[in-house]
Amino acid sequence: MKHNFDEIIDRRDSECKKYERAVYPEDVIPMWIADTDFAVPKEISNAIIKRAQHPCFGYPIESFEFEKSAQRWEKTRFNWDIEPEWVKYANGVLPFLMYAIRALSYPGDEVIIQPPVYPPFSAIVKNNGRQLINNALVQDENGKYQIDFIDLEKKLKSPRAKLLFLSNPHNPTMRSFTLEELTKIGELCLKYSVIVISDEIHCDLVYKGHKHIPFGSINEKFANISMVLINPSKTFNTAGFRTGAAIIPNEVMRKNIQIIIEDNKNYGRTIFGMLTFITAYTECDYYADELMEYLEENRDYLLNFIKRNIPKIKISEPEATYLMWLDFREFNMSQSELKSFLFEKAKLGLNDGATFGEEGKGFMRLNIACPKSTLVKALDNLKKAVDSL
Ligand SMILES: Cc1ncc(COP(=O)(O)O)c(C=O)c1O
Repeated sequence: MKHNFDEIIDRRDSECKKYERAVYPEDVIPMWIADTDFAVPKEISNAIIKRAQHPCFGYPIESFEFEKSAQRWEKTRFNWDIEPEWVKYANGVLPFLMYAIRALSYPGDEVIIQPPVYPPFSAIVKNNGRQLINNALVQDENGKYQIDFIDLEKKLKSPRAKLLFLSNPHNPTMRSFTLEELTKIGELCLKYSVIVISDEIHCDLVYKGHKHIPFGSINEKFANISMVLINPSKTFNTAGFRTGAAIIPNEVMRKNIQIIIEDNKNYGRTIFGMLTFITAYTECDYYADELMEYLEENRDYLLNFIKRNIPKIKISEPEATYLMWLDFREFNMSQSELKSFLFEKAKLGLNDGATFGEEGKGFMRLNIACPKSTLVKALDNLKKAVDSL
């Protein structure tokens, strides 16, 4: 491999939230928040170092390179033809959820989410005065999460339903939705005039045998009722640069979003953010490919280890993301017992499944985007703790 994903990097004392000393003592392995423990591609660090040698850092121009790099990525990685004019900038993917709520719905309107799901989805809806409507994913006999389309249609039918927040690939259930599933969602949303906000921040992180399909790429009708959110941050470990983009093919929707951006004077592109975004999406395809090879090995190691050594933990086939959704319900612990067991006995810093919604009780989320040696140690810790019960 061109990139060394085995390298152990000491992230403590580097303004790193994942390894914050006050929360995670030295003997705990933090495997929670969704960033990786891998160095960024050389191309990104070289671009940053080169630019840092220039002594001035005043307001940057808004060059069109940002939009063109998003266009290139969607075309080369997912065969989606978009226009650079469709691309909008924000300092993260999350601001677009807020913009969408404000631009495309009224107070009291309904926003549908599919829990268990990334916790800020529900917080943003509630904090912006909209009604949160759950269309919970349901597990089939193999533990695989499926969309409950009967329930979805019931929720979409409501005259106040305006937006659907789709997480695809889905965090934390590791689903990469199929063309058939996405088409069904699109047809229903068209039928009931609901706009799809497709958060595709994990789009590069899809394992062999599965394929990421940008929602807007399926057909023109779906493109017209949706926006797709992307960010190189999950793949290239650049979340600290605060970039994010929305692809909005519909001109009226784009104008409405632009009004919210301008009303809030939220233009803040940063020099280093732009550089990382553009470099990632124009020069770093190899890194995204190698990352997936590496993650696949980590994923398989985890699956085999758990099956062999801790079969009481259940996990469905991870189709995407480096965030493994572990089912501890057979341990019959309360959520607080489970959390303290994993933190104090197994010495692992994981995400509490209950923060992803009621449906996440009994689950914990474990991030495998770390050197294999760290994962091996973490799973050994887990086995020892379970054996001691
Ligand atoms: C599904 C999903 N959306 C959004 C984000 C955060 O995006 P950003 O930092 O670009 O706002 C995350 C981070 O984990 C995520 O998993």
